[in-house]
Amino acid sequence: MAQKPSFFITTPIYYVNAAPHLGTAYSTILCDVQARYRRANGYNVKFLTGMDEHGEKVEEAAEKHGMTPQEWCDSQAPLFKGLWKTLEISNDDFIRTTEQRQVHAVQYLWERMKESGYLYKGSYDGWYCVPEETYFTETQVTKSDEEHHTEGQHLCPDCGRPLERVQEESYFFKLSAFQDRLLKLYDEHPDFVQPDFRMNEVRSFVEGGLQDLSVSRTSFDWGIPVPFDSKHVTYVWFDALLNYMTAVGYGVDTPEAKAELAYRWPAQYHVVGKDIIRFHCVIWPAMLMAIGEALPEHVFAHGFLMVRNEKTGKGEKMSKSRGNAIAPQDVIDMLGVEGYRYYFMTDVTPGEDGAISFSRMEQVYNADLANSWGNLVSRALNMSAKYFDGKTPQLAEGWQDKPNPLRDIAQGIQQRYAQHMDHMEYVQAKDVVMELVHAANHYVEDSAPWTVAKDPARAGELADIITNLLESIRICAHLLAPFMPQTSAEVLRRMNLADQVDTDDQAVACQWGGLRGGVDVQKGDALFPRLAKAGK
Ligand code: MSP
Repeated sequence: MAQKPSFFITTPIYYVNAAPHLGTAYSTILCDVQARYRRANGYNVKFLTGMDEHGEKVEEAAEKHGMTPQEWCDSQAPLFKGLWKTLEISNDDFIRTTEQRQVHAVQYLWERMKESGYLYKGSYDGWYCVPEETYFTETQVTKSDEEHHTEGQHLCPDCGRPLERVQEESYFFKLSAFQDRLLKLYDEHPDFVQPDFRMNEVRSFVEGGLQDLSVSRTSFDWGIPVPFDSKHVTYVWFDALLNYMTAVGYGVDTPEAKAELAYRWPAQYHVVGKDIIRFHCVIWPAMLMAIGEALPEHVFAHGFLMVRNEKTGKGEKMSKSRGNAIAPQDVIDMLGVEGYRYYFMTDVTPGEDGAISFSRMEQVYNADLANSWGNLVSRALNMSAKYFDGKTPQLAEGWQDKPNPLRDIAQGIQQRYAQHMDHMEYVQAKDVVMELVHAANHYVEDSAPWTVAKDPARAGELADIITNLLESIRICAHLLAPFMPQTSAEVLRRMNLADQVDTDDQAVACQWGGLRGGVDVQKGDALFPRLAKAGK
């Protein structure tokens, strides 16, 4: 049997200086929805996430907590793994950069870099932002100082926090040699960076000229040692970016690992926040070019979650000091996990910054989930149970060919939805599904099954109405599954269709006609009880 096509998708690996938060959960759920969607469409998915454990920032966090860096990282791993489990993240692998497989791969990379001729020893004298783990040149810093009128302390041009002066021996990666090749990459693969407006940002950065990159540090030691020069440890980003290849066997000399690498690499998607696109769209492809490896197909950069200030209506950066930070648990308590996933995935446009608020969460939850989707399911299942003796109606021969308004909307629905899902356009994909949900709710009103049920002569008509409703629900459950896996599984189970839950052919599953007639239905509890008022 032919092997399924591979779909390899990754989240950024998260720094362990702080617990997972709404932002990191957002990147992770974006990937999870895509991973689930691809599994339902015949791909053999590898969905990778993990933790970025080296570097000064993590070392400082450990010190602050009176632990060794390794102890600190070990103490944080359960927090990440635990939240991902709670949020129904279906990752196939969880990589930690302190693992032996990563140490091995990074040291292997050093040797390849040395052979490539794009590595040289020098000394770095410039600025470093520890919270961002990024180098800045004198010019960048001065320019930013002029703009922001800072005196005395120099501040990071990106995050505004104090910079550190670094003067140390260092290995450099000749990034400057890749300007033309990178521009050619962007020309030849305009969808390498998505959405397209991010590509313009990346391109103009590269057009402005590239500086060689310091890729080793000698002033501290929480990093992977450079194999041929033990005084040096690997710069945290040089280490971190490689995680994507480590996880699929890079640098391992066994037939299994080589086969895995050939099957999985290049990755289809690296999903990252807009803050780290330069690392993924400039440095990472240049590293891969230097060592002669294939480049990832797409880097998808999402925006930042901002908290909507209810007074001004504007989005503000979330931070503990502003007192507007929202913890994942607060949202889970209010919306439940499935409501949480649905809200962030369908009300925030993935490429753009999104202004989020508890009142908007309540609005979306009540309108889409309680009043529309949840209500439709409970009405239809209740009526089926009530009018058909606890069962779905018996299906008449050729029922699926009978014209009706819901069937019309359901025609080609999976294909319309897939056009958006393929490009992470989750808001539009949700709209395609909700069109059928809304139409089905209207259909209940228009066809008034409670009246039809009073007339025994109209029994056939009643069966048709309920059948059409249940069939629409079945299809919507399949299409909503990547967003709300538990709810969809529950809906299918209540209709005695548990065997359809893990389909790997969503297009077939969504064809009109997959309902089972004359089988037990379970009314069950309300899927999304209405929220009375904003939780906060
Ligand atoms: N360790 C690096 C990534 C290395 S990948 C090879 C890193 N880690 S991080 O912990 O800072 O996580 C960064 C990612 O978290 C961002 O790229 C973004 O995906 C996500 N977010 C952090 N704050 C966010 C928001 N407020 N909103 C949305 N996502 C944000 O950078």
